[in-house]
Amino acid sequence: MERTLIILKPDSVQRRLAGKILARFEAKGLQLAALKLLHVDEALARKLYVVHEGKPFYESLVSFITRSPVIAVVIEASRAIEVCRKMMGATFGFQAEPGTIRGDFGISNQYNLIHGSDSPESVEREIPLFFTPSEIHSYSTADAAWLQDE
Ligand code: RTP
Ligand code: MG
Repeated sequence: MERTLIILKPDSVQRRLAGKILARFEAKGLQLAALKLLHVDEALARKLYVVHEGKPFYESLVSFITRSPVIAVVIEASRAIEVCRKMMGATFGFQAEPGTIRGDFGISNQYNLIHGSDSPESVEREIPLFFTPSEIHSYSTADAAWLQDE
């Protein structure tokens, strides 16, 4: 099993899309391992987006993610990183394919609803910014045998 960090950005919460987006991950057969609503402060935003420091959109990205609460989620599933990134769609809503989260719910560049870790290294760095180990739960579900190949 692989873990990934998903953040439903302030626009998801403000536009009351959080439930719809989480429902897509659940329907896909992915498992919620941790979940919290929090207001990201500036220090946390700068840590999360350190890879974008110096880029033209960096300061506005920090102000966007700190503007109002987000929902941080750890998802656990086989190939969770790849599957979540595919479900999210391309970065900019106007380019994202219909059927993806960004493709179905937005047209903006920056207000693109959702963050998802892009590699195992990003997962290792990002999850501890939001969750302690005791806040993350692995558990078995009754439908597991019907979701995995034999
Ligand atoms: P994320 O990190 O949020 O999952 O998104 P991503 O990998 O698809 O995109 P990335 O290149 O990592 O960019 C991080 C976030 O910065 C905002 N952005 N704005 N105005 C712009 O040109 C621009 N470019 C990027 C988006 O909110 C993007 O998700
Ligand atoms: Mg990224």
